[in-house]
Amino acid sequence: MRHKNEYIMVREGKAQILVPNPELYKRADGVYEPAWAPVFYNPVMRLNRHLSVAGLYAWSSIRGRRPLVIVDALAGTGVRGIRYALETRNVRTCIINDISKEAFRIARANIRINKINTCVATNREANALLRDLKEARRVVDFVDIDPYGTPAPFIDSAITTVRRGGLVGLTATDLAPLSGIKPSSGERHYMATLAKNSVGREAALRVLLGLVARVAAIRDRWIKPVMSISSRHFVRVVIEVLGGARKASSMLENCVGYVTLCDDILWSEHCEKPKLFGPIWLCDTHEHEILDQAINFLQGTDYEDSDKEEAIKVLEKAKEEIGLNKVFNLTSIAKVAGVNTPRRDSVVQCIRRKGFGATSPHYPGPYIRTDADYRDVLECVMSLGSQ
Ligand SMILES: C[S@@+](CC[C@H](N)C(=O)[O-])C[C@H]1O[C@@H](n2cnc3c(N)ncnc32)[C@H](O)[C@@H]1O
Repeated sequence: MRHKNEYIMVREGKAQILVPNPELYKRADGVYEPAWAPVFYNPVMRLNRHLSVAGLYAWSSIRGRRPLVIVDALAGTGVRGIRYALETRNVRTCIINDISKEAFRIARANIRINKINTCVATNREANALLRDLKEARRVVDFVDIDPYGTPAPFIDSAITTVRRGGLVGLTATDLAPLSGIKPSSGERHYMATLAKNSVGREAALRVLLGLVARVAAIRDRWIKPVMSISSRHFVRVVIEVLGGARKASSMLENCVGYVTLCDDILWSEHCEKPKLFGPIWLCDTHEHEILDQAINFLQGTDYEDSDKEEAIKVLEKAKEEIGLNKVFNLTSIAKVAGVNTPRRDSVVQCIRRKGFGATSPHYPGPYIRTDADYRDVLECVMSLGSQ
């Protein structure tokens, strides 16, 4: 029997969305558990959705503003697809899909509530829907994959269905497998050799991108990541998918490979028997122009929530990461060196004095991002940590 107040209306971005009443799905500790609700809506993922809307807006305005055909393939309430349609102001057709009958019903109601005639709700298995769109030769500009846990089972369909030069957004929330904390499920889903390490958030992004790149290469396609964010309990990557067998081979050669792992330190060979970790993505994970435009977009919004400021902060920081594709955990290095962990700012200065780039990543923690080798970082940690 339906509860009278089973759904409530919330505002997110420019959308009004019917979502499950969080009061009805609380754990014993009083925290809302979205997985218990009849349709999945997690307010904690608003940050992910702000970033995703800003990313799509930025990409479509930079790459020519043609009216977009987009697929929100695992839509839940439809909040993402509806926000894309309302906020990017550039969507010609938006397919909002979910395998659940109840999600389909609510997504359809939400489309009606927001009065958007460009969106349609469908009730299909995501891979089947994407394959059908491909078979029907529909030109699809953007595919969004936002599943429970791993996006791995949907990557091939998304990459194959999107047009050449189109965009794919993927969320993963299975951070333990993806980052190497649970290597066996990580190895199954991401077809990579993984292990515990001290830079799990970075590893998670690069393991996911490594799989996406290899799957794209199977189809003679190659990828260009335009925004890659690791925050809270998710990673979100947004990639452009391009065509060309030769470029796919050169992407594999230059941007996908193994890195060494010593103790828990990635990119270190400073031990007797370094292990191999990967294949992971080795190249840049963002495009500067896209991040700039996404920030401009967010600054111009009237979102009345704290996630807007966080999204802007994360993207500002991400801009500094371009060209600096190794991440080290200063606490781990200090432990190996037998010194106290030095202040991050002083390590950044030290690395820069050696002629390399260095900054902190867009996620919190005792990390340093650099193009220097482990040995150079170690030297700085040793000299500063023992002072
Ligand atoms: C994490 S929720 C989506 C949340 C939504 N994108 C948002 O931003 O609020 C994942 C959704 O995928 C749906 N789902 C799971 N497996 C699916 C499949 N194979 N095909 C289509 N939908 C699927 C579930 O019913 C669920 O609504």
